[in-house]
Amino acid sequence: MDQPTPRDQIYHTPVMVQEVLSWLEPAALGWIVDCTYGGGGHSRALLERYPDVRVVGIDRDPDAIDEVPDDPRLMVTEANFRNIGGIFGRGGVPDRVEGILLDLGVSSHQLDTDVRGFSYHRSGPLDMRMGPDADRSAADLVNTADERELASIFKRYGEEHHARRIAEAIVQQRPFHETTDLASCIAGAVPAAYRRGGHPARKVFQAIRIAVNDELAGLATLMGAAFDRLAKGGRIVVMAYHSLEDRIVKRAFVDRARTCVCPPGLPVCVCGADPDFKILTRKAVRPSAAEIESNPRSRSAVLRCGERIQ
Ligand SMILES: C[S@@+](CC[C@H](N)C(=O)[O-])C[C@H]1O[C@@H](n2cnc3c(N)ncnc32)[C@H](O)[C@@H]1O
Repeated sequence: MDQPTPRDQIYHTPVMVQEVLSWLEPAALGWIVDCTYGGGGHSRALLERYPDVRVVGIDRDPDAIDEVPDDPRLMVTEANFRNIGGIFGRGGVPDRVEGILLDLGVSSHQLDTDVRGFSYHRSGPLDMRMGPDADRSAADLVNTADERELASIFKRYGEEHHARRIAEAIVQQRPFHETTDLASCIAGAVPAAYRRGGHPARKVFQAIRIAVNDELAGLATLMGAAFDRLAKGGRIVVMAYHSLEDRIVKRAFVDRARTCVCPPGLPVCVCGADPDFKILTRKAVRPSAAEIESNPRSRSAVLRCGERIQ
């Protein structure tokens, strides 16, 4: 599928579609789990390119499940991918699959829908829950966490340089219920020079979103479970959009592919490590300049792929 269909354009423009298709080509005759179905752009591209593939889509956002195409090779279910184990061995899905795909982060639909409250540009309720399984909204977090907790979230999940002064301003001025009110408070809390390097609320909004949706713990849990669900020769493809996500993916890949775990300094290997996983992307793959130009939201994507070898 070279051109996105209208639903892709409305819901989400899929990123690095050709790259995903080619890394997952060995799975063309088997089952692929699309853990982040979103607007279904990648799933549909796989179904169009590979007539014999079967795709299981997962998304924690009920909006993503709304308009699933009627195709007997596709089933889509509302779930958090951290519970990926629940989909195997049911409804015809085997215990192990030939492909697992993760396209992390938020969809354009989520970002651009004011009432979801993800965007600091758009006025809306301070929500940011990707799905009903997240137990607190952004407003709950911002209005109840103490200053130290907020600063720590902004630092850890947003790598925000001015985390402490932003947290202090929020605690002084809360409660907040609207995205743009919070964004203005953040802008007022940072030095004027800092405001010139992009919107000052960008990192804090990212941090709140990650905390509200417990994104990094969910990703780490999934990575722990996914390798064991790959059949021999099965591939996992992950697209991350910021360094915190990518670090988790990269570390999980490296740990699984580790050839020797002997303490450094031993003259010969005594651990007998026999890895069952091989990293196929020595360096992370990035979108082409042409793709970034036509879809600026693809800009920060990094793709990694690995294969189960035994
Ligand atoms: C970047 S979009 C995926 C877009 C999709 N590949 C497409 O082509 O339309 C990310 C999607 O992953 C979903 N998501 C994020 N974290 C999730 C999780 N822990 N479990 C299930 N879905 C998740 C979001 O709700 C969102 O719809």
